Amino acid sequence: MKLCVIEGDGIGHEVVPAAVQVLKQVIPDLDVHSAEAGWDTFQSKGSALPDETIATAKDCKAVLFGACSSPSYPVEGYSSPIVSLRRKMETYANLRPTRYLPVPTAREGVDLVVVRENTEDLYIGDEHTEADGDTGTATKRITRYATERITHMAFKLAQVEQRERVTIVHKGNVLPQTDGLFRRVAYEVSHHYKHIETDELLVDTAAYWMVKEPTRFDIVVTPNLYGDILSDMAAAWGGGLGLAPALNLGDEVAIAEPVHGSAPDIAGKGIANPTAIILSAAMLVRHHWKMTDLANQIEDAVYTTLSDGDYTADLMDGNSMSTQRFTDEICSKLA
Ligand code: NAI
Ligand code: MG
Repeated sequence: MKLCVIEGDGIGHEVVPAAVQVLKQVIPDLDVHSAEAGWDTFQSKGSALPDETIATAKDCKAVLFGACSSPSYPVEGYSSPIVSLRRKMETYANLRPTRYLPVPTAREGVDLVVVRENTEDLYIGDEHTEADGDTGTATKRITRYATERITHMAFKLAQVEQRERVTIVHKGNVLPQTDGLFRRVAYEVSHHYKHIETDELLVDTAAYWMVKEPTRFDIVVTPNLYGDILSDMAAAWGGGLGLAPALNLGDEVAIAEPVHGSAPDIAGKGIANPTAIILSAAMLVRHHWKMTDLANQIEDAVYTTLSDGDYTADLMDGNSMSTQRFTDEICSKLA
């Protein structure tokens, strides 16, 4: 089994080795191929996502990605490597689950998955500044093709996980040509899955309910931008960014990556929480390699470790565990 491992920047250098340690504990003959990407790679090599990294990722078909730092001002020649990698590997779905974990910051009863379309919407990169220098324009694209495949993914996930409801989230009242198309096509697809309930919410109303009553949600299927925002909101109910996993999935390809970024404020201190990336790795094991028992084992070991009150510094003041000790604790439960 081949895995392309990209640490990226910041705490990527700390949490990625933790997840590899856990994976090797359950899959001892895992064939790990390291590759480079990110801001530091851009500085040293002139490209944030070198061709050899793309080649390794495509060859392995499975990627474990840490996080990359991106400047919030335009830099000539730089674009986010993870956005490019998702596109190059055609991982058209981004699964972002939020499930209750036994930590003081999590909300009991929450168990939802945001299924985010990963290839289009406002993120196609068609953005420009007008000649006056004071007007920026970006194109939002929604297609039948991408909407059909993401909605099928959402309903198939509902089937596999024996879930009851898929909620279509959109803003079709204001954007009838784009989000209206998403809504219409998603409903068409829903007719293939009559035993699963389908409903819809406008994205602003969905945001309200995500804050007020997150247990209302089961599976959410939505275009790229809304999925990005709503899944970060949902992550707060799961206990915080250090615990929120994600999996980019395509046909026979997958990229596991935590929801969080490179956390420059704590990078290099050995205190980052590796839970998010370990749970992302478990999703890769489950959905891409189809090794359900091993995925359950990893998730159970994380759950038990947290139940014991073993936390990293983001979850408690004082007496917290380092990234390495917390990871060793999880591995001891897998031995
Ligand atoms: P961030 O997620 O890196 O950090 C937000 C806050 O959460 C910080 O206080 C950080 O210390 C904390 N945090 C995040 N992950 C943690 C973990 N595993 N354990 C403990 N604490 C954790 O988001 P921020 O600060 O907005 O962005 C920092 C950099 O990361 C930026 O350059 C941004 O562009 C990049 N970024 C990259 C992403 C990716 O590669 N997918 C996603 C989000 C941001
Ligand atoms: Mg985000």
